[in-house]
Amino acid sequence: MACLQTVFSYIGIAVVAYYASLIVTFAYDVFVRPGVKLSKFGAGQGFWAIVTGCTDGLGRETALELARKGFNILLVSRSQDKLDLMATEVRALGVEARVLAVDFAKVSVEQWAEIQQQVDDVRVGVLVNNVGVSYDYPMFLEEVSEETVDALVDINMRAMVKMTRTVLPQMKERKSGLILNSGSFAALLPSPFLSVYSGSKGFVKYFSQSVASEVAKDGIIVEHLQTYFVCSKMSKTKKPNFFIPLPKPYIKTILNKIGVQGGSSEPYTSVPFFSHALMAFVAERLVPKQAAIDYNFNLLNGLRKRALKKIQREQEADKAKTA
Ligand SMILES: NC(=O)c1ccc[n+]([C@@H]2O[C@H](COP(=O)([O-])OP(=O)(O)OC[C@H]3O[C@@H](n4cnc5c(N)ncnc54)[C@H](OP(=O)(O)O)[C@@H]3O)[C@@H](O)[C@H]2O)c1
Repeated sequence: MACLQTVFSYIGIAVVAYYASLIVTFAYDVFVRPGVKLSKFGAGQGFWAIVTGCTDGLGRETALELARKGFNILLVSRSQDKLDLMATEVRALGVEARVLAVDFAKVSVEQWAEIQQQVDDVRVGVLVNNVGVSYDYPMFLEEVSEETVDALVDINMRAMVKMTRTVLPQMKERKSGLILNSGSFAALLPSPFLSVYSGSKGFVKYFSQSVASEVAKDGIIVEHLQTYFVCSKMSKTKKPNFFIPLPKPYIKTILNKIGVQGGSSEPYTSVPFFSHALMAFVAERLVPKQAAIDYNFNLLNGLRKRALKKIQREQEADKAKTA
């Protein structure tokens, strides 16, 4: 009996020590550990950062913050007028800016060749594969339009793969580079009613981790950014709270913590923003996945029903106007 008690107390000590070490590592990562310095990738040395989907939300803030850090910026996004405004803002920060108007939902072979030319024309230190789209509201897979399905595949996955391929040769030759890929909590926990978005971010995660491992020996860091909600057009949230920050503080943390896992236990993944890190820590280690999927099902189904009611109200108001 005494022997059994000793065995159980050792197991108890081991379990407590394990969780204590996880908490200490978490706190060290989030509050203390510095990230890899951006000067390693050419900040302030005439190098360029490419940011896709850079005229709004997280991409816009990433482009501005990288400019503040001393990178010239190649701005790649859909709308020429917004790109021109962004270029003016970037130049006002004392660095160079170029723009490339590309609709990633329909890029022709010729356009990819042009993108490659533009990329080859500059020394690329950083690529931020930020562009991404989601649904208008949560819905069943068969309710999603063909156009939306194709756009999700083209923008969230194809663009990331092809943009990454444009920069790798020169980064490999120089043995230096940073590639940041916009992922999502929709890859940490599967998201019913957002199946194509969630699946595309699952792709981003495994693509990033696989390429990261391939190129680590070449001095290139590929990082999967597993983002929870941030105020933006996509998240349809304007007012920040503890869990949903504004893009600026979020991106500042990301760029100061390159190579720091934060709340994630996934390789080549970074979740350094405190509230997001806390959620990732809990979701990954303490919540059974099926329970999380069931929770997401109810949450997103509720959002779907609210969105449908809103659409119905709007249609009825339109009908009343035209009657
Ligand atoms: N915000 C969040 O809560 C959140 C959470 C998790 C992950 N993420 C990820 O973070 C990334 C950025 O999200 P966000 O919230 O910042 O998005 P956002 O505010 O909607 O901004 C999207 C940007 O992408 C551009 N864009 C959209 N479609 C495009 C296309 N077909 N071709 C080229 N550019 C296009 C937009 O240009 P226009 O201005 O011309 O439309 C805009 O600059 C996405 O990959 C998203 O999945 C965001």
